[in-house]
Amino acid sequence: MTGRRGALGRVLAVAGGLAVSLGGCGGDGASGTKAQARPVPPAPLASSYRRHCQQCHGLGVAGAPAVGDAVAWAPRQAQGLPSLLARVEAGIPPAMPPRGGCLRCDDATLEALVRWMAFESLNAGANDLTEG
Ligand code: HEC
Repeated sequence: MTGRRGALGRVLAVAGGLAVSLGGCGGDGASGTKAQARPVPPAPLASSYRRHCQQCHGLGVAGAPAVGDAVAWAPRQAQGLPSLLARVEAGIPPAMPPRGGCLRCDDATLEALVRWMAFESLNAGANDLTEG
């Protein structure tokens, strides 16, 4: 009995030591910025974004432009907001569903989501908003 407990204790000690040493690796310069969390929009939009858009746009799944990826968004910004909105409302086959799959989002919410995703999340402000 005591032998078993001792063995378990050693396993736990090893596992604990491993966790500590793995944790210690993060700060040695190898981690860079790639581990940064993707942004989420402010409160009134956050739940719709999390429920309907993040699954594809959080990391850029299935060809979706990822939130925060300035290169992916540049040609879309160049279209201007009205064109972006029209495409979002219609959906873009095959992967982007009509209205981003948020059939309960009203027009104002959808527009705010698109604005944030395509402009504000990149610029950390609305100064460069292209409305044309
Ligand atoms: C199932 C995956 C998926 C979901 C969910 C989704 N999207 Fe997309 N979205 C895409 C893909 C893929 C594209 C790229 C389409 C292309 O360029 O061919 C895209 C493109 C876009 C674009 C750029 C349109 C353009 O003209 O290139 C916007 C804006 C956008 N999505 C907004 C949203 C919003 C807002 C939501 C949530 C309400 C959402 N999407 C949910 C997959 C998704």
